[in-house]
Amino acid sequence: MHELIDHPCVQHKLAIIRDVETKHKRFRELATEITQFLCYEALKNIKVREVTVQTPLAEALCKKIDTDLVVVPILRAGVGMLEGILELVPTARVGFVGLYRDEETKLPVSYYDRLPLQTKNGTCIIIDPMLATGGSTNAAIDLLKKSGATDIVVICIVTCPEGLALVEKVHPDVPVYTAAIDDHLDDNKYIVPGLGDAGDRLFGTSH
Ligand code: PRP
Ligand code: URA
Repeated sequence: MHELIDHPCVQHKLAIIRDVETKHKRFRELATEITQFLCYEALKNIKVREVTVQTPLAEALCKKIDTDLVVVPILRAGVGMLEGILELVPTARVGFVGLYRDEETKLPVSYYDRLPLQTKNGTCIIIDPMLATGGSTNAAIDLLKKSGATDIVVICIVTCPEGLALVEKVHPDVPVYTAAIDDHLDDNKYIVPGLGDAGDRLFGTSH
């Protein structure tokens, strides 16, 4: 299952983040802002409990989030979405999964992971700006499932039909929330039109 967040406020920011002229400072700000919109949608069905709150006038029946949230950025580019999500859900725990794509095979290579114990009973939110072939996302989902996670969602900024199809085939129980489903992957397995190398653009390592 996937959901495209086509809201004009998200699409406006997406137009700017894609722009080759957008430098790393603005790129990071936009990644934060877009992530907040995506996260807002992705968490719409999480468990809540009813609480009674005393307002200055009367008691109000309210709702509070009632689940352990574990945010899992895929290193390195996923870190660029972390601030945005933590502003929305500041009590979330954070686990890290280190993966990079091998330049030749384009397959994910795992180099680090550190997950909190709460992955088992909580809701895990994988964040990575790019879901290209889907290999890195699938590897992160595999790792989380191995750690006992049963409730996982993925938030990415840009994806493409090939990557989405792979994730949905291998992990049909994991929904993907995205701001864009682009046209295709090029010969280097980059998303076209995409936004280029997300990690480089976030951290200013491209030029
Ligand atoms: C990018 C991106 C994803 C992955 C997507 O990371 O942030 O993790 O590629 O590609 P896939 O869907 O084909 O697996 P990259 O390997 O460039 O590492 P980085 O974040 O360290 O720059
Ligand atoms: N990684 C990126 O940063 N961008 C892509 O388009 C594909 C993989």
